[in-house]
Amino acid sequence: MSTTLGELVKEGAQTLAAGTVAEPYRTALHLIRAVLKLDAATLVAHPERVVTASDLRHVRQALARRAEGMPLQYITGTQDFYGRDFDVTPAVLIPRPETELLVDVALDHCRRLSQSTVHILDLGTGSGCLAVTLAALLPTVRVVAVDISPAALAVAVANARRHGVAERIRLLESDWLAALPPGTPRFDVAVANPPYIAEAEFLSLQREVRDYEPRVALVSGPSGLEAYARLFNDLPRFLAADGIFACEVGWGQAEQVCALGAAHHWRLQRALSDLQGITRTLVFTHCPNAVSHLKQPP
Ligand SMILES: C[S@@+](CC[C@H](N)C(=O)[O-])C[C@H]1O[C@@H](n2cnc3c(N)ncnc32)[C@H](O)[C@@H]1O
Repeated sequence: MSTTLGELVKEGAQTLAAGTVAEPYRTALHLIRAVLKLDAATLVAHPERVVTASDLRHVRQALARRAEGMPLQYITGTQDFYGRDFDVTPAVLIPRPETELLVDVALDHCRRLSQSTVHILDLGTGSGCLAVTLAALLPTVRVVAVDISPAALAVAVANARRHGVAERIRLLESDWLAALPPGTPRFDVAVANPPYIAEAEFLSLQREVRDYEPRVALVSGPSGLEAYARLFNDLPRFLAADGIFACEVGWGQAEQVCALGAAHHWRLQRALSDLQGITRTLVFTHCPNAVSHLKQPP
């Protein structure tokens, strides 16, 4: 018996609803479009079109995976970040819209600098979304991007090539700054979206995140602050005198991260909130001679 596009959309929405997926109809449309490489108009305008047996098999496999909890982006293999499509696999965190704030901050700082070459460090690059976006938007920057996960670095390499910036991004397997060679030029901007989930919180994450995104991208230790402590301690050796460190923080973490930074002589310069009003991005400068003080985010 043949199945039409219209029937498949209906079946897909039912499969996803049974798997408690939010917005099952819209998600089914999106997934079917992506798997069959159809534009939105064709899918809506030709519900009578018969789906081939092989296409049907592929769509049903994808629907089953989404119904089990696999994020849509791992099924379609792509996610938009700052207006560009990025390859994503289960080896990397799916780039989030709030992380785009780090791009805004880095662009803002780099565009004020007068030197011909600006050096950017991306700590925990994952898919390479930050490194690649900044290299693509700032034609004279050179980026060093590190990650502890070789599988993530392979995805970042693919994205750097896809967007034509591989020659200006050096990708390095490193435990934060440990593998940066001596003599590395000082960085004008360091960006980081580090793992910030506390171990105890991990099990309460939604299944799409907990069961599918890489644990190393989410959790760095018992408190969720371990990565910040390492970076605040080690980064000053690699940052230019007027350089900035911009990092993303988790819900409700801004105050603790500022206190940790202050204890390592980092001064909060700016704090930015996401669309939900959550403080997400903190921008620090390092002041080695300043008396350590606790500074709260505004
Ligand atoms: C939250 S993800 C961020 C990925 C990407 N920058 C983004 O914003 O979408 C954190 C990244 O840090 C990496 N990571 C975790 N621990 C690390 C370590 N000790 N050294 C370097 N990278 C690390 C993970 O592999 C992961 O890719």
